[in-house]
Amino acid sequence: MTDAPTPLLDSPLVRAARRQSVPHTPVWFMRQAGRSLPEYRAVREGVGMLESCRRPDLVTEITLQPVRRHGVDAAIFFSDIVVPLAAVGVDLDIVAGVGPVVAKPVRTRADLDRLPELTPEHVPYITEAVRLLVAELGDTPLIGFAGAPFTLASYLVEGGPSKNHEHTKALMYGDPQLWHDLCARLAQISGEFLRVQAAAGASAVQLFDSWVGALPRTDYERFVQPHSAAALAAVSGLDVPKIHFGVGTGELLASMGAAGADVVGVDFRVSLTDAVARLGDRYAVQGNLDPALLFAPWEALEAKVRSIVEEGKAAPGHIFNLGHGVLPSTDPDVLTRVVELVHEVSAR
Ligand code: CP3
Repeated sequence: MTDAPTPLLDSPLVRAARRQSVPHTPVWFMRQAGRSLPEYRAVREGVGMLESCRRPDLVTEITLQPVRRHGVDAAIFFSDIVVPLAAVGVDLDIVAGVGPVVAKPVRTRADLDRLPELTPEHVPYITEAVRLLVAELGDTPLIGFAGAPFTLASYLVEGGPSKNHEHTKALMYGDPQLWHDLCARLAQISGEFLRVQAAAGASAVQLFDSWVGALPRTDYERFVQPHSAAALAAVSGLDVPKIHFGVGTGELLASMGAAGADVVGVDFRVSLTDAVARLGDRYAVQGNLDPALLFAPWEALEAKVRSIVEEGKAAPGHIFNLGHGVLPSTDPDVLTRVVELVHEVSAR
């Protein structure tokens, strides 16, 4: 596809991701669209999560809500990491307060054989919603996203959210060939989902490997990294920066960068200074305010935000974000104040 609008190369988000100078530190929040916003709860009333992801009018409205309210430097496309899996026919639901639940876990070769590759024809509503959004957003870049093969595999193999990922690790170690074949299929699905969003006009992409912090580095490099690299490589021709994030991944930061990221997401357990020491100067960093600190007294929160902005100034590039998603009971006015503070203290 060659009809993509020009990515917003001069936006602070894209410039920071490419380690170029910025007028101020760009800021957005993982899960900025969602239950913390009353206007989100109002439009979602009576509409299931997966259904809302298939309606371009709702996707557009929900994606724009935090941009209007908080003045963030990027929109994150409203969807979910399991949307492409549902699109290729996996029987699953997103249960409120729980997360994705898969009717029949994927654990055998026959199960894998029933998992088709993703084509753009599976997700016409994604292309349509991205196009609508890019037209509405003007100068604000849109971040497209997908789940990484490990995190998607965990939901499919466990059948739902998991604390210990025991069936996933049992498959990885018990049948490495099946594991690699499953992850290769998921990398195709994930990479194509990213490519569809970038081709329709997203200015950057983020690959979420939320639960990969459950693995030691040696297992990450052997069982996961090649597949995440394949997913990220799917957008390599499209000139969009690639952000790669996981929770509890302090030991994996350099390996996740080496999977092909331009920006490595850092959770709140590792300081940005330590992250940069582990990553070197080839990557920008994104993060890393603890979402729980949004509940702390403003003076304490303000000091933490200022110190993260300062640490970020020493990084090759910095995108301010939380160390994980906005918690549903967060006061949205606090998020707006954080955006204003980041812009004020980082203005060059
Ligand atoms: O603002 C945004 O960040 C954009 C939208 C977004 C959603 N899911 C919407 C959503 C994004 C980027 C995701 C990614 C996602 N989904 C991840 C990776 C990010 C992360 O948090 O680590 C993961 C692991 C999932 C799987 C998933 N889907 C979970 C764990 C949940 C939460 C379950 C719950 O109810 O607490 C979902 C559901 C979901 N995805 C909601 C939203 C707004 C809540 C559902 C609702 O509002 O009814």
